[in-house]
This record gives sequence, C-alpha cells and structure tokens, in this order.
Amino acid sequence: MSDTWTPQSWREKPAKHIPDYPDAGKLADVEKTLAGYPPLVFAGEARQLKADLADVAEGNAFLLQGGDCAESFAEFHPDNIRDTFRVLLQMAVVLTFAAGSPVVKVGRIAGQFAKPRSAPTETQGDVTLPSYFGDNINGIEFDAAQRVPDPERQLRAYSQAASTLNLLRAFAQGGYADLNFVHRWNMGFVADSPQGHRYEELATRISETLDFMKACGIDANSTSQLQATDFYTSHEALLLGYEQAMTRIDSTTGDWYDTSAHMLWIGDRTRHPDEAHVEFMKGIKNPIAMKCGPSLQPDELVRLCDALNPDNEPGRLTLIARFGSENVGDGLPPLIRAVEREGKKVVWSCDPMHGNTIKASNGYKTRPVDRILKEVQDFMAVHRSEGTHAGGVHFEMTGSDVTECLGGAIEVTEESLSDRYHTHCDPRLNANQALELAFMIAEGLKAERQQRDSVAAAG
Ligand code: TRP
Ligand code: MN
Repeated sequence: MSDTWTPQSWREKPAKHIPDYPDAGKLADVEKTLAGYPPLVFAGEARQLKADLADVAEGNAFLLQGGDCAESFAEFHPDNIRDTFRVLLQMAVVLTFAAGSPVVKVGRIAGQFAKPRSAPTETQGDVTLPSYFGDNINGIEFDAAQRVPDPERQLRAYSQAASTLNLLRAFAQGGYADLNFVHRWNMGFVADSPQGHRYEELATRISETLDFMKACGIDANSTSQLQATDFYTSHEALLLGYEQAMTRIDSTTGDWYDTSAHMLWIGDRTRHPDEAHVEFMKGIKNPIAMKCGPSLQPDELVRLCDALNPDNEPGRLTLIARFGSENVGDGLPPLIRAVEREGKKVVWSCDPMHGNTIKASNGYKTRPVDRILKEVQDFMAVHRSEGTHAGGVHFEMTGSDVTECLGGAIEVTEESLSDRYHTHCDPRLNANQALELAFMIAEGLKAERQQRDSVAAAG
C-alpha cells in the first residue's frame, strides 16, 4: 500500500459505476451522518473470517457465499431473510456432512444494494431515463423522479442492513442453527422435491450421529459448536462514498476496516489497477475478493494480487472466477498457473452465475441451471488437473420458490418464468436449485479429496 492511502484517497482516481448525484451538498450530509453511525461489524469478526478463509486457501475448508443479486427495500421481510439463511444452512450441512469439509458461510446479504449496469441509461418507447442502480441509489420504477439518485436512500439501506444483520446474528448464534434442528430447515416446497428427499436422508443420518454422540456424553450443552455457527456478511464495494463512511480505525490494531460487512468484493468492471475501487480496497484490512472474467490477463492478475495483497497473506484475497460454462475450461488454467508460479496465496472461488446469463425467447433475462452446474463442475475439474483447491462458490439465490433460472429437478420452463419472476436485477437460483448445486459440489469435493489421498499414498 502506498503511504498516501486514506479512506478517501480513491476520490483522486477515475471511478466507474458511481452515480452522479444532483445535490452534492445533500450527499455530503448523508455521508457525514453515516460516518457517525455505529459500525455494522466488528473488526475482530473480519479477522476471524480472514483466518477461516486462510484454511480455505490451504485446501482445508470450503467457502459458501450466496444470496441475492440485489437486496431491495420492497422484499425486506423477516421471512425472506430466514428462508435465505435456512437454504444456506441446508447447503452448508450437505457440504459439511457429505463432503466432510468445514464450510465458511458468507451471505451476499445485509448490504448488497448497489449494482453496476451495462448501460447508464434505459430507454422505453421514446423516454430515456437513468438506469436503475440499486435501491440504495434510485428507484426501480421507470419514472423520472424515481430514477434520480437520492442520497437519503443510503440511510435506509444502512438501517435495513443493520436489522438484517441483527436477525442473522440471532439465527446463527441463538439456536436456529442448532444441528439438532437439521430436519426443520427442510420445509415447505423444498421438502416435497427430489432434493428435499435427498436432504431428508442426510438429515436422518446426522440425527443418528448426534444421538450416538449424545449417548457418549457429547451434546449441544457440552459442545457449543453443535448449536451455533459463524455466519458472515458480504457485498460488492461499489458505492465508495458509503463504504468510506463506514470505514473506521480498529482501536485494537490501529488498522482501517470497512465495517459495512465482513467481506467486500470488487467486480470485473471495476478492478482496474489504477482506478478508484482498487485504491479503496488496498487500504482496508477486511478479507476481500475480486471477480475474474475472461478479459483478465494472467500478468494483470499477478499485478492485482501484488496491489491488493502485498504481504501475500492467506485469507486476505479471494479470486472469484466468472467465465461462463463455455469458457472456464480454457480461461481458468492460465490464471491458476500464473498464481501458482508466483506463489500467491489465494482462495479460488467460482461464480457460475454471471457468465451464464441469457435472454429467453419471451424476453426474460434468465440462466439455465445446467450451465450453472456445468461451470462449477468444470471449475472443479480444472482445479483437480492443476492440483489446486477448488475453494468455494459464489452464487445468487433466494430461499423462496421463484422461477428465474431455467431447469432444475423441478423444471422451470420458459413458459413458467413469468409465474414468480421477482428479482430486482439478475435471475437467482431458487431453494431447490440451490440445494441441487450443493449436492453436486459435495461430489466434486469428494473427488478432489480422493485424488489428494491417492497422490499422498503413491508419494
Ligand atoms: N459449528 C459448526 C459449523 O458451523 C457445526 C454447525 C452447527 C453447522 N450448525 C450448523 C454446520 C449448521 C452447518 C450448518 O460448521
Ligand atoms: Mn448479479
């Protein structure tokens, strides 16, 4: 990091995907107000996540990161938070039990509001308005007044993030995540699906194991790990004014932490080494991530690793590959080889969503589940052949029964997309599709471990 880093040094650099606010004075007032609000996370928690991610970087754990593409004010409801959390727990259980791997659980939640858009404006008929940039910036309705960026929305986003996080902490630590409730997480429409049945069998085996351990004297009362879990939050660090306002000095270490979430990432469109988003990320000590798409060259990746993780600290930097199912097989190996050659310690994660977006014939923006699954499968296969660890997944999902991605065991068809297409931005996996993904990843992790064991035995 250069000596001149400050929470506002990004303002000296070119910044993409940050909206123009018509009232600069009002924006400055809001940022000042935010800067006086309590931090949402504690720096010590961010350090714990970094340590957990270091285990992933070393090949001993798996990162499960998922949630909404964009959170919205309209869908803010305790049931939605609970349902998303519940599916993430189910997925985590599948991976922990079926693959025998510790799982680091990170929600794309409690702050995921701002969206980079491919076009700054949207035209309908003969009307052109600014694009929708996320509920913390402007309104989704195609209406001139709604589309004006309004700084006050950041205060509402902060408050929604705070109460979402509060509920998540209560769920994670207060009993909801107790492994003895493993059956109760399988509810409603999920329970009746093929994935739900498969989950039920696994849950029964876990219950039997818990009964056995209880008879041996180990239960949730004696062993707190059985009744609680660590659940972390993350979002894209896009709206840098907000992130700056939430960045504070940690009194125990004297370091800067962005206290809006445990983990922050930057997108494939904002990762330019000389621009504002990379500058901001350099100085915060949180664990961070960067999306890596097909345009990223191996030498540029190495340069970005140096810039973002100069001390090569394991757990600090997660690289999220988002190539598309067609391209990951060819595109990923050169990046992995460059990272290995330079001895960079990173977590490799797979975003199988953003490279697989298509337009259905009836105009819906969608993603075929089979391509999503294939991208994860190919990602894991590439890592097996490179001898590196397929460290995690990053996906967009919701706990409710939406019809946004095509396919899955209970098939969503082009015709049924319109039934429950609720997303404010990109199409998300529904709960069944997400569970299907988890079972597939578990198979991949088992294969990776078998390979590792046989190499060890042969060696
Ligand atoms: N504490 C352990 C963990 O988080 C075990 C655990 C408790 C767990 N509740 C869970 C694992 C819910 C998965 C899902 O891994
Ligand atoms: Mn998205």
